Amino acid sequence: MTVSIFSEITGVGHYIPQKTLSNDDLSQLMDTSDAWIRERSGIHERHIADLKEGTSDLGLHAAKEALKAAGMTAEDPDLILAATLSPDYYFPGIGVMIQDKLGARDTPAMDIRGQCSGFSWCLATADAFIRSGQYRTILVIGAEIHSRIIEFSTRGRNVSVLFGDAAGAAVLRRKESPHDIKTALHDPTFSGLIDHEMGSDGSGADLLAVTRPGCSSGHDSLITTHEAENKAFLPVMDGKQVFRHAVNRMSCAVTTLLNRHDVRPEQIDLFIPHQANIRINDMVRQKLALPPEKVFNNIHKYGNTTSATIPLCMYEAEKEGRLKKGNLLVTAAFGSGFTWGANLLRW
Ligand code: UT7
Repeated sequence: MTVSIFSEITGVGHYIPQKTLSNDDLSQLMDTSDAWIRERSGIHERHIADLKEGTSDLGLHAAKEALKAAGMTAEDPDLILAATLSPDYYFPGIGVMIQDKLGARDTPAMDIRGQCSGFSWCLATADAFIRSGQYRTILVIGAEIHSRIIEFSTRGRNVSVLFGDAAGAAVLRRKESPHDIKTALHDPTFSGLIDHEMGSDGSGADLLAVTRPGCSSGHDSLITTHEAENKAFLPVMDGKQVFRHAVNRMSCAVTTLLNRHDVRPEQIDLFIPHQANIRINDMVRQKLALPPEKVFNNIHKYGNTTSATIPLCMYEAEKEGRLKKGNLLVTAAFGSGFTWGANLLRW
């Protein structure tokens, strides 16, 4: 009997810092309002990390929970993949820090820079490593502390009201199955990753970016005192352009992925989109002709947590009974870069 190698998500974890910041709290800090933020983004509140916590600590909590859910110890993963745009240090990345804090001795730990698509890309990369036969167990993590790289003032309001701090993680395990991709896709008793779509368009890099500190041309140091005093390290975003590209790229990524496997949107049990703006997700949903009950959103509670949005949704959707064993799940992400991704799997 021939068998195929697949990877399966065997545990998911999350971490939400305790402190909340409501839209009304923000309106005390800048010229904004609960009505504006709700109407334009769908966000009601977000969570803010404690000063005692770094991004790797958030990732560590989520990783531990995912390992526990998978019935594994820190020594079990053969590889750690981590995604963030808000690392503890400029370098090294958070992967090695989480590896050390977990006590996963000598396990290779790699950071993947895909911004809001980071977790989607980690899933695709982990799946490829497992299918290639190189690794059997991979821990993937998305963690962010945005609250330290945004400005809670009227100047920064177009960005700062949108983002929150959180982490999510998943454990992927190798499995062997008599199925091939085609039969796995149509068997609701199967559980595993099917396929992925990834894309980038670097011509959009400056439309959502933190450009300083950096080694770009024309600068003789990472950051000057003048730049630091003027807070050149804060993100810049052309919201309208990013919005337009997000709707197009996320819906196209999903359509491409579904068409590749002759899957019709009505066959999807649940769609988990990146949580950047509820209006983006509604437009993507309409383009894909999916009913609202097949889309999972939690942006109202957490805001945009970049690389953590998708695992956070997976975690909550499962807990709430919206995502069940064997369900056909599709995800979609879009972010700074521009980068985008989609994953098709049976839960
Ligand atoms: O993960 C990917 C990352 N990011 C995204 O996907 C974000 C994509 N973009 C968006 O979500 C939306 O473009 C925003 C929510 C950022 C903005 O919504 P918008 O409908 O595009 O508003 P706008 O930028 O056109 O701003 C409308 C007005 C402006 O005032 P004027 O010029 O019309 O007088 C802004 O100055 O709203 C003002 N504004 C605010 N007012 C109150 C901008 N930010 C705020 C704010 N509170 N926080």
